Amino acid sequence: MIFYDEKSRIFTLETAHAAYQMRVDRYGFLRHLHFGEKLCGGSCEGLHTVGFMSFSPAAGEMGEDYVSSLDLAQLEYPVFGAGDYRSHCLSVVFADGARNPELVYASHRVIEEKPALEGLPALHGACETLEITLRDRWAELEVVLLYSVFEEYDAVARSARIVNRTGAPVKLDAALSVCLDLPESGFDLLHFHGRHAMERLVERTPLMHGKLCVDSVRGTSSHQQNPFVILCDHAATEESGRCWGVSLLYSGNFTACAEEDQAGTSRVTMGINPAGFEWRLEDGESFQTPEAALVFSAEGLGALSRRYHKLYRRNLCRGEWARKQRPVLINNWEATYFDFDDERLVRIAKAAGELGVEMLVVDDGWFGSRFDDKRALGDWIVNTEKVRGGMKSLADRVNALGMKLGLWFEPEMISEDSDLCRAHPDWFLHVPGRGYSRCRQQLVLDMSRREVRDAVHDMMAEVLSGANIAYVKWDMNRHLTDVWSADLPADRQGETAHRFVLGVYELLERMESEFPHVLFEGCSGGGGRFDAGMLYYYPQIWCSDNTDAVERLEIQYGTSFGYPVSAVGSHVSACPNHQTGRTTPFHTRGVVAMSGTFGYELDLAKLSDGEKEQVKEQVKRYHALYSLINDGDYYRLLDMTAQRELSAWEFAAEDGSRALLNIVYSHVRANFVPPVIHLRGLTPDASYRMTDDAGREVGVFTGAVLMRAGFRAPRAESSYPAGANDYPAFQYDLVRL
Ligand code: DGJ
Repeated sequence: MIFYDEKSRIFTLETAHAAYQMRVDRYGFLRHLHFGEKLCGGSCEGLHTVGFMSFSPAAGEMGEDYVSSLDLAQLEYPVFGAGDYRSHCLSVVFADGARNPELVYASHRVIEEKPALEGLPALHGACETLEITLRDRWAELEVVLLYSVFEEYDAVARSARIVNRTGAPVKLDAALSVCLDLPESGFDLLHFHGRHAMERLVERTPLMHGKLCVDSVRGTSSHQQNPFVILCDHAATEESGRCWGVSLLYSGNFTACAEEDQAGTSRVTMGINPAGFEWRLEDGESFQTPEAALVFSAEGLGALSRRYHKLYRRNLCRGEWARKQRPVLINNWEATYFDFDDERLVRIAKAAGELGVEMLVVDDGWFGSRFDDKRALGDWIVNTEKVRGGMKSLADRVNALGMKLGLWFEPEMISEDSDLCRAHPDWFLHVPGRGYSRCRQQLVLDMSRREVRDAVHDMMAEVLSGANIAYVKWDMNRHLTDVWSADLPADRQGETAHRFVLGVYELLERMESEFPHVLFEGCSGGGGRFDAGMLYYYPQIWCSDNTDAVERLEIQYGTSFGYPVSAVGSHVSACPNHQTGRTTPFHTRGVVAMSGTFGYELDLAKLSDGEKEQVKEQVKRYHALYSLINDGDYYRLLDMTAQRELSAWEFAAEDGSRALLNIVYSHVRANFVPPVIHLRGLTPDASYRMTDDAGREVGVFTGAVLMRAGFRAPRAESSYPAGANDYPAFQYDLVRL
């Protein structure tokens, strides 16, 4: 609910367990008052005033009222140049060179819906939206702040629209999406860093005086940092403490900056990275920032994650596949790499289909002269030497086996050795007359240009409409360099990186509306573009190129803080693992991959009969557990950053009727006594039958016993030398009686 008290000029946004409050002060500035636990109708006005601080100036209208200084205020949308020296959301240069807008309240209205953001991803669904217009005191520059309230998830979606009515062009040097000011200090920041094949590792660090920034200037959200951060009480755990999530629905360069200031208050800002960014806004034009989803939990990190999971599953992912059961797939990449033809593919499909797998995905290498990774990106025409008879014939043969067919594309890329590049040598990002960087022997198409997008669209559409293709894996295997577009004049080149992202979104939107039945899966060298922006376009993303079950524990653990399991592409692959050389039991690989969109990525012909039987069992089991895993509540039961030996997590049905407990060893040690694990989400006074995944009964216990007294994880026996029995996994079903 959104309330406005005209007398005090206070806005209060109420959600199920939280309140967001702000007010217009006597000078017209929009001050943040509170985002946290409910206020039960009360107001925080005047409670957090810092008092006088030397060197903190009073803005024009304030005269000598230094106590009201913007430098000491909690603000909703801080700007550069007008007396607030901390991190800002907006930096604008007016036609006369002025850089000091004073944004003051002009008007507001409440809309009974969630507005879409043109060309950008955005949450959707039933909600109320508060729109507050701020205007520069001296020129007709407006900032329209949007606050959409998703009550059930304690979420507020925020964005800003900058409108130029000054009568002359202005230049934006920074236009971020969100600022969250808190009147206290002593918080920790959780962020999710990594590298290729090791994404979203959790790092927790106290805020400091000065700025702590995580960001990307790689043109995509990146493997190295994720556009999601959590601010939390120093003592916050999975079960307790205040936590604030800030998640950006954007897939390009971003920044998230947290700082503790001289007065002991804390600020987080997030949005498009100003590094390399400039946007010329003509008179009458507007600039829409990406949306940020803020979520609050006073019940610790676990509740915060579960709120994001539900919000993103229900109000971010769209289309037919957002909630529909996804097929179990087999991908040929790690089975064949580039070495395949139609016969080999059909053999894989046949063997997989017999074991219950539902779809064959033909990965990289089916097009142009793509016999290795040095050529042919951009030539999205079927290679009939490899796929003899063409794609329709392959699809028909695979369909005849009762399987669907999926295809890999890398639409944003071009190889120098390609027909596309020979025909259009100016279509990739580079500055004419200068050299350019190569990465994986490929270049990046200038997706900001319509003609480039049209050409890629036409080639992809022809393949997708010429055969029964049920799935597309949309990959992206390098980051941007030499960002310069032939479509823009010299003084607008700072727009290229953002226009690239808008172009990718436009192409995705076009493909998906033309092929609404196709399931799209995102990928960027694994999880290099695993962000909330992309989940608006495709409901699942290949989580990492690292398919080692033990490494995946950490990657999937970190991912779970901000993203639902239904978004996590996860497969059982061959051992020794292709990324690490490690051998893990087939059972363990199945348990880990089941906490994602399940599939296989190996040569079935190389499996033993026993392993083939396990595939059958795993597929059956995954089907039976699908709704519990994807719609249930997810609980992290052990802190992976502290407990190195094993990992434990649980899915519990919202009504507590069923649960699935997963325990996997990542480090087997001599005489190690495993910890007691406390289950979650059960009905305390009901009884549960607990069985292992072979169907053997462990016992009947009350929910209270399992949650409060807990259950000691089984011991893992070590074997020497290391062998296939190391890294065991245990899975238990709990059914309420
Ligand atoms: C990177 C992806 O993450 C892999 O799964 C595979 O599709 C390769 N690209 C193919 O080039």
